[in-house]
Order: sequence, then structure tokens, then C-alpha cells
Amino acid sequence: MKKMKSIVTGGAGFIGSNLVDKLVDEGHKVIVIDNFISGKKSNLSHHSKKDIKIVKLDISKNKNLANHFKGVNYVFHFAGLAEILPSFEDPKKYFINNTFGTLNILEAAKKVKINKFIYAASSSCYGITKKIPTKETDKIDIKNPYSFTKFLGEELVIKYAKNFNMPNISCRFFNVYGPRLNTKGQYGAVFSNFLNQKKTKKPLTIVGNGKQTRDFIHVDDLTNALIKIVKSNLKNKVYNLGSGKETSINKIASIIGGRKIFIPKRKGETKRSCANISKIRKDIKWKPKISISKGIKKLFNN
Ligand SMILES: NC(=O)c1ccc[n+]([C@@H]2O[C@H](COP(=O)([O-])OP(=O)(O)OC[C@H]3O[C@@H](n4cnc5c(N)ncnc54)[C@H](O)[C@@H]3O)[C@@H](O)[C@H]2O)c1
Repeated sequence: MKKMKSIVTGGAGFIGSNLVDKLVDEGHKVIVIDNFISGKKSNLSHHSKKDIKIVKLDISKNKNLANHFKGVNYVFHFAGLAEILPSFEDPKKYFINNTFGTLNILEAAKKVKINKFIYAASSSCYGITKKIPTKETDKIDIKNPYSFTKFLGEELVIKYAKNFNMPNISCRFFNVYGPRLNTKGQYGAVFSNFLNQKKTKKPLTIVGNGKQTRDFIHVDDLTNALIKIVKSNLKNKVYNLGSGKETSINKIASIIGGRKIFIPKRKGETKRSCANISKIRKDIKWKPKISISKGIKKLFNN
């Protein structure tokens, strides 16, 4: 049987490289497209050349992108700048990388007949959430340039599906954590900061009073859902991809343990976040399996 061929943009990053592992296990030949701005070669070094091909390029600049799409069945578009705070400083950079980059990938995918285009959208499109848990149909409330660039990317993906008959699934990721989490960024998400602080024996910094909640999904649960999406006949859908559970930052800090300090809260951040995941649970017969305490233990004991 002919091998399935998948492209993973951003495949050297945290979520992308975890997905590459699963795709290789499923027997796919994988082409990773990454400019290594935050991704690492070491995230993929355990794979052999027969299973993956690494193409180093910037999706916002490269004119010959389409050359890499010949014979491709699935496109997972995960490349992008993924931090919120720096997007206030340089919104243009975020638009070029995330929105324009998405347009380039769509243009390249349009030229070949792909089975499915899977987009890494962000739950940050819900902004200051009023309804908890939040459904896919709830209000979009953009609060920062990052979220805007990601949401525009989703809109582009949906428009391409309609206009050029390109089946797609957009997954709005909630707070993803797990092995290979990017800990380099200065303004990383809560888990990146906590991991760094634990490693350097510094106190955990808690923003505000720590009572704010987020929906944390382990990357293994997330990539299992993505594999099920690939195998399904579903197309042209938007899904929340979270754990469906709400956890406070104080709870995370207490599971990790050790000293903590409180720092001033930031404007424009939601107090609560939690995904309503009934739609994806029903459509792909999937449910998250890794509890937050088990996920944290796995991550911090490595
Ligand atoms: N981590 C989360 O909780 C979360 C939540 C919502 C959405 N997302 C989205 O999921 C995707 C992956 O996020 P992540 O946490 O793995 O981040 P990451 O920074 O680890 O991965 C992003 C990857 O994209 C690559 N990249 C960035 N700009 C590029 C460009 N112009 N050309 C080629 N490659 C480029 C980076 O080198 C990196 O390997 C991102 O699109 C992000 O917006 C992540």
C-alpha cells in the first residue's frame, strides 16, 4: 500500500514535533517545513531520513513552497509565532508570519489535491470569555494582535475550503502542555515559565491572585485527537480542542510545589477559560485521558 504523505509546518516546534511522532507511528511519510525560529532540530533527531524530510524555510518568504507539496495527502499548518505579549510590540511581524504565512501555505496546497488541511487555531479568539465552558459558536472577542493573526488565518482556511474545494478542519487549541514545551520565550505561557523557574530553582511567578483559570490539555491527548481527525471523513469544521476542564493557576502551582511569588496582573487577559468539547468528543469519539496532576508529574519528573 502506498504511504500517506503529510506536511507539518512548524514540525520542529513543541506541538508539531509531537504530532510528527504520531504520524510516523501511523506509517506516514512526513515533510517538516520549519525556519527554526523557535523549533529545534533535536525535537526530531530520533527519526530516520526514510520517515521524515526536513525542509528549512520561512513560510512567509519562500516563493517555491509549492514544490514541496507534490503528492501530499494532509497538510498540518502549525508554523507561526506563538506568544501573545511580543505581538503588541511588533504586530507587523505577527501578521507577516502568521496570516501571510498561512496564505502562502494555502496557495501551495491549492495547487495539489489534498485530502485535508488542518489548521492550528487558537482559543485566544474568545478573548474575555462570558460563557464557560465556551462553545465554538460563542462570541469572538479579539484582544491582542497574536489572536487577530491566528483568527484571520482560520478565516482564510475556511474561505479557501469554500472557494477552492479544499477540505479543512480548524482546531482551536486551548493551553497545550507536555514534553518539548518551548521554554525559550521570555513571555512564555504559564507552563513554560514554571518549568524554567523549577529548573533554575527560582520561585514560581503567579500573575494576579492566581485564581484565574485555564483549560490545559496534554499534547498526547491533543495529537491523538488530530490523528482521529485525519482518519475520519469529517471536513470543513471548527473544533475546540481542550480538556474540557477548568484549572486555576494556584492549583497548578500547588501540584508542582515549592516557593511562589505573585506579580501584577496583565490587561486584556481573561479570568476564566474552559472549552466546551462536546462537538469534537461526539464527532471523533475521543476524550482526553491525561489528568492535570498526572500530566504535571510526567512533565516535571523528566
Ligand atoms: N501551545 C499552545 O498552547 C497553543 C495554543 C493555541 C494555538 N497554538 C498554535 O499552535 C501552533 C504551534 O504552537 P507551539 O506551541 O508548538 O509553538 P512553537 O513555537 O513550539 O512552534 C512553532 C513552530 O513554527 C516555526 N515557525 C514560526 N514561524 C515560522 C515561519 N515563518 N516559517 C517556518 N516556520 C516557522 C517555529 O520555528 C516552530 O518550530 C502555533 O501556530 C500556535 O499559534 C498553540
